[in-house]
Amino acid sequence: MLQTDSDGYSFGGRILVSDGVVISDGVIIAPYGGSIEIGARAYIGPYCVLYGHGGLAIGRNTMIGAHTVIVPANHGFARIDVPMNVQPLTQKGIHIGEDVWIGAGCKILDGVSIGKGAVIGAGSVVSQDIDAYGIAHGVPAAIVRSREKTQEDYSLSRNR
Ligand SMILES: CC(C)(COP(=O)(O)OP(=O)(O)OC[C@H]1O[C@@H](n2cnc3c(N)ncnc32)[C@H](O)[C@@H]1OP(=O)(O)O)[C@@H](O)C(=O)NCCC(=O)NCCS
Repeated sequence: MLQTDSDGYSFGGRILVSDGVVISDGVIIAPYGGSIEIGARAYIGPYCVLYGHGGLAIGRNTMIGAHTVIVPANHGFARIDVPMNVQPLTQKGIHIGEDVWIGAGCKILDGVSIGKGAVIGAGSVVSQDIDAYGIAHGVPAAIVRSREKTQEDYSLSRNR
């Protein structure tokens, strides 16, 4: 396990990487004052960007495809008389369960929770919660079916 308070970006925060995690080339892990926790045996694909502002938790055995960006924060933009870069951030945090597969090039937005065993198709923008075992894709990502059904079909075919 690796634990550090340094993110290399001078904003502080906490990074906790459990045993057996694979972090591929070009990955940026930047807590921005929040925390990033990566569960055991998770895989982070090439050139992913993981931010931590409002907190990011990634469950064990989860796989995150190349070029995915996870941002647990949004700039405030309520006022037009003040630049957005000085308006307060909102930070809710992002929770990604265990054994989730996120395809390449996804964007995961603040406040989202992705349930255990979900599949997120390549190129998706996840702006709402995804249920456990949901198979979701698109912009915004929507569940198209459940892995519980694929399990049922698999079990039936084995019993024939
Ligand atoms: C989502 C995925 C897992 C397949 O799921 P699936 O439900 O079995 O998908 P299917 O191939 O049966 O396609 C179902 C429909 O969804 C569409 N679809 C599949 N993946 C899609 C995606 N990522 N975004 C938008 N639409 C997608 C298909 O075109 C098809 O549309 P149709 O019904 O109009 O023909 C796969 O398409 C995918 O995105 N894999 C990610 C691969 C990757 O990025 N790997 C990274 C390395 S780990």
